[in-house]
Amino acid sequence: MFAAYAESFSKDDPLSGLALGDRPEPEVPEGWTTVRVKAASLNHHDLWSLRGVGLKEEQLPMTLGCDAAGHDEDGNEVLVHAVISDPTWVGDETLDPKRSLLSEKHQGTFAEKVAVPRSNVLPKPQSLSFEEAACLPTAWLTAYRMLFTQADLKPGDSVLVQGAGGGVATALITLARAGGLRVFATSRDEQKRKRAIDLGAHEAVESGARLPQRVDAVMETVGAATWQHSLKSLRPGGTVVVCGATSGPNPDATELNRIFFLQLRVHGSTMGTRDELRQLADFLDVTGTRPLIDRTLPLSKARDGFAAMAEGDLFGKIVFTR
Ligand SMILES: NC(=O)c1ccc[n+]([C@@H]2O[C@H](COP(=O)([O-])OP(=O)(O)OC[C@H]3O[C@@H](n4cnc5c(N)ncnc54)[C@H](OP(=O)(O)O)[C@@H]3O)[C@@H](O)[C@H]2O)c1
Repeated sequence: MFAAYAESFSKDDPLSGLALGDRPEPEVPEGWTTVRVKAASLNHHDLWSLRGVGLKEEQLPMTLGCDAAGHDEDGNEVLVHAVISDPTWVGDETLDPKRSLLSEKHQGTFAEKVAVPRSNVLPKPQSLSFEEAACLPTAWLTAYRMLFTQADLKPGDSVLVQGAGGGVATALITLARAGGLRVFATSRDEQKRKRAIDLGAHEAVESGARLPQRVDAVMETVGAATWQHSLKSLRPGGTVVVCGATSGPNPDATELNRIFFLQLRVHGSTMGTRDELRQLADFLDVTGTRPLIDRTLPLSKARDGFAAMAEGDLFGKIVFTR
């Protein structure tokens, strides 16, 4: 079957290890099933994989892709929860020390078919297209958990989203606005700041610029480049939720003084549970809120999507279809 997969790693030139071509059909262990993929969305995770983060040489070739929407073996429209936990694990799947994401231990979704545990298959709301549903399992689920579980934000609260253009960042802005929050965003790019406002941010400022008010929570995906600004933007007792560090994991100043003196909370966040994915799908179904898709490409043109993400030339999600 046709697939987009990693055949080698390169830190500096991740696209050099991306291959498009024929791969064997997935193996289906006991308790697993297959989904015929109609749409799969690209995440920064896929670029990290091509850089060798989270994968070992001996696991190559590895089909990339965490997210998918498609048809189950009975022809039902489904979406796939990307977090694979140990079959014996009970409770929040993201806390299972043995958990992995599709494309880390098990072959990913950039293929005609993907094998997943039966319990990872959820019904797709009819109101969402396959392309929209394919945005949910990683970027949108991560954003949902950051805002409403980890920061526990409620209507009327204020939030800053760092780095407006990314898949997670555009999900954060959209969900925060739909959830009744006052939304601030930053971007390095003027055009992206304008688009953040169109998407629902009340204000968008240049990266590092002072906000008109201190906020209840900051959503961090950028890391070192924005960390100090994130902590300086919080009100006393506020929360920064961090799910990624695209610009690097080691900020020049960790601001420990500010953290204890202002009693700030630093909350890590990774993906979301199956139940949160169900809640998110319901939230979109009921509110009419939809993922912003930057572009949709046939899987055979996946290289163009990877290149756009590597260059930061995107606003919203990139989706591959078959
Ligand atoms: N823990 C988890 O479960 C989880 C889940 C999803 C994603 N993540 C992580 O979250 C991060 C974002 O993922 P994504 O898929 O949304 O990636 P993406 O679409 O590539 O996001 C790129 C965004 O990062 C911002 N950015 C990049 N470098 C920057 C810099 N030097 N200074 C300021 N802003 C910078 C850009 O903002 P502007 O161009 O607008 O300035 C852009 O909006 C990645 O590191 C990813 O691995 C983690």
